[in-house]
Parts: sequence; C-alpha cells; structure tokens
Amino acid sequence: MEARKPEACGQCHLGPDHPQIEIYMESKHGDIYTAFGDQYNWNAAPGTWSPGVDFRGPTCSSCHMSGAGTVLTSHDVTERLAWESQAPKSIRPENFPPFPAKVNHETERDK
Ligand code: HEC
Ligand code: HEC
Repeated sequence: MEARKPEACGQCHLGPDHPQIEIYMESKHGDIYTAFGDQYNWNAAPGTWSPGVDFRGPTCSSCHMSGAGTVLTSHDVTERLAWESQAPKSIRPENFPPFPAKVNHETERDK
C-alpha cells in the first residue's frame, strides 16, 4: 500500500528545512528498505503490518501511523510524538499553547 512507502511522505518531507526523507534514506532503516523493500509484504491487512514479519526495517508510517499488535493505526501524525519541535526550543505536546495535546507523551512515545 502506497502510504506505507517512504516515497509517499518524502514528496513533502524533503529539503533543507525539513529533510526527513534524506535523513531516512541515509539511515540504516533506509539502507535496509533500499536493499530489501521489494520483499516487504506491503499488502498486509490494515492494523496488522508487523515488524519482523511483514518488513525488516521500519518506514515512516511504521513509526508514525501504522498499527501492529496492540498499537492501533492512526492518521494523526502528531499523536506518537514526545516533542513538539518549535523555535527557540522544543516543548512537550501537552504544553503547545495553540493545540495542547490531550495525550500522555510517554505513552505515545512507547507506541
Ligand atoms: C502533502 C504534503 C505532505 C505529505 C505527503 C506528508 N506530510 Fe507530514 N506534514 C506535512 C505538513 C505541511 C506538516 C506540518 C503541519 C503543521 O505543522 O501544522 C506535516 C507534519 C508532519 C509531522 C509532524 C506533526 C507535528 O505535530 O509536529 C509528522 C510526524 C508527519 N508529518 C509525518 C508524515 C508521514 C509519516 C507521512 C507519510 C505517511 C507524511 N507526513 C506525509 C505535509 C505532508
Ligand atoms: C524508527 C522510527 C521512525 C522512522 C522510520 C521515521 N520516524 Fe519520524 N520521528 C521518529 C521519532 C521517534 C521522532 C521524534 C519524536 C518526538 O520525540 O517528538 C520523529 C520525528 C519526526 C518529525 C518531526 C516532528 C516534530 O515535532 O516536528 C517528522 C516531521 C517526521 N518524524 C517525519 C518522518 C518521515 C517523513 C519519515 C520517513 C521519511 C520518518 N519520520 C521516519 C520516528 C521515526
């Protein structure tokens, strides 16, 4: 499925001000995706896309969106973050004034 592939995120998350796709592709996870991605089971049923079973190295969606085991799938990419990156310094999502998160960052980070 398209959203499980890093290219789906990299069309926006690229370049000097938010280089997530470049960081990912140069990382070990990206190296493993480049070498073995054609063997990943991209078509596992929603909520069951499991590390070590369906894929070897995580993609963007493995960490930020996908469900597996007891972790539910989420379309809220803010949900699993432990920090809200802000200048001049990062803050906890609960303390972000415009949209204070209603979740506990330690619980979310564990996902
Ligand atoms: C069409 C462009 C686009 C695509 C495609 C896209 N994003 Fe984003 N993403 C954004 C923008 C813009 C923001 C910043 C939103 C904001 O700060 O209000 C963002 C923010 C985020 C954040 C940070 C949220 C936060 O609270 O700071 C994460 C994590 C994220 N995206 C993950 C992903 C993942 C994973 C994918 C692929 C499955 C993806 N994005 C695909 C445009 C995109
Ligand atoms: C191995 C798991 C993992 C993978 C793979 C991964 N991320 Fe992340 N990502 C994280 C973690 C952990 C953080 C920092 C979360 C925190 O503490 O707030 C993060 C942070 C981010 C942020 C910044 C959020 C903010 O607060 O501004 C964005 C955007 C993002 N990731 C997008 C992506 C994209 C796009 C990809 C793929 C190209 C990707 N991530 C791959 C785990 C991952």
